[in-house]
Amino acid sequence: MKLKDKVCIVTGATSGMGKAISEAFAKEGAKLILSGRNVERGEALVSQLKNSIFISGDISEEATNEKLVKAAITNFGKLDIISLNAGVLGLGNVVDLSISTWHHTLNTNLSSIFYLSKYALPYLLKANEGNILINSSIAAFKSFPNHPAYCASKAAALALMKQMAVEYAPKIRVNAMCPGPVNTPLLWDSAKAFENIDAAVENAKNATLLQRLGTPEDIAKLALFLVSEDSNWITGSAITIDGGILNS
Ligand SMILES: NC(=O)c1ccc[n+]([C@@H]2O[C@H](COP(=O)([O-])OP(=O)(O)OC[C@H]3O[C@@H](n4cnc5c(N)ncnc54)[C@H](OP(=O)(O)O)[C@@H]3O)[C@@H](O)[C@H]2O)c1
Repeated sequence: MKLKDKVCIVTGATSGMGKAISEAFAKEGAKLILSGRNVERGEALVSQLKNSIFISGDISEEATNEKLVKAAITNFGKLDIISLNAGVLGLGNVVDLSISTWHHTLNTNLSSIFYLSKYALPYLLKANEGNILINSSIAAFKSFPNHPAYCASKAAALALMKQMAVEYAPKIRVNAMCPGPVNTPLLWDSAKAFENIDAAVENAKNATLLQRLGTPEDIAKLALFLVSEDSNWITGSAITIDGGILNS
């Protein structure tokens, strides 16, 4: 029970990696506030996991983030961990991308990290071993066609992660995961940026040194490590988890 009685907020909990992370944290004894917009998937997850509450809302809006922190304090009395997974792609090259898609992508992938951290930090500072974990991407280091807002937001998320690690040490640890291609709905949406969707996913798989796509569970194992005591000398780090694709 690596997270026994730890209170965690998990964003993007209704799908893919955030869902697998929620399941992994619950298995280790965490109490969870789960966030997403899809009420049906959120309620289905809550019915599976003990000590979990689903709060629906758009994470790109400041008020949703404040609501998540309030829910943690009202229902569980404290907050120990925030796991920031919600993300969107905002596909389109710089010329074609609408201004509103640019802002929506930055607000979802980057501003939400600032908003949730802003409201959570006063409570995380009171916790024993407060922890912030950001789900960035290899897109912070390697660019893909038609992903300008995505790449920019994921790189900026790493800068924000490092800044918060400096600012709030030694009380709080702040780290990021940088996944490569993981088999989730977002990966298949991302492949729409290429001419042939199936070929793009197959090419991504073949470009990994380990010759497979990641699974949400692969990422959940790293997330559990980074928020638990097992990683208690790691902060300000961006950990690549990509089947070796950045070295291929
Ligand atoms: N899959 C990959 O290959 C890959 C690689 C590197 C990094 N990542 C990153 O990993 C994270 C998780 O992605 P995933 O692959 O697991 O994708 P996914 O299965 O599509 O899940 C995305 C999650 O984000 C939530 N979300 C999106 N916009 C939101 C908004 N405005 N308000 C509230 N929730 C919102 C979605 O919830 P609702 O639909 O309920 O709103 C969903 O739970 C993302 O940050 C992504 O950028 C993914």
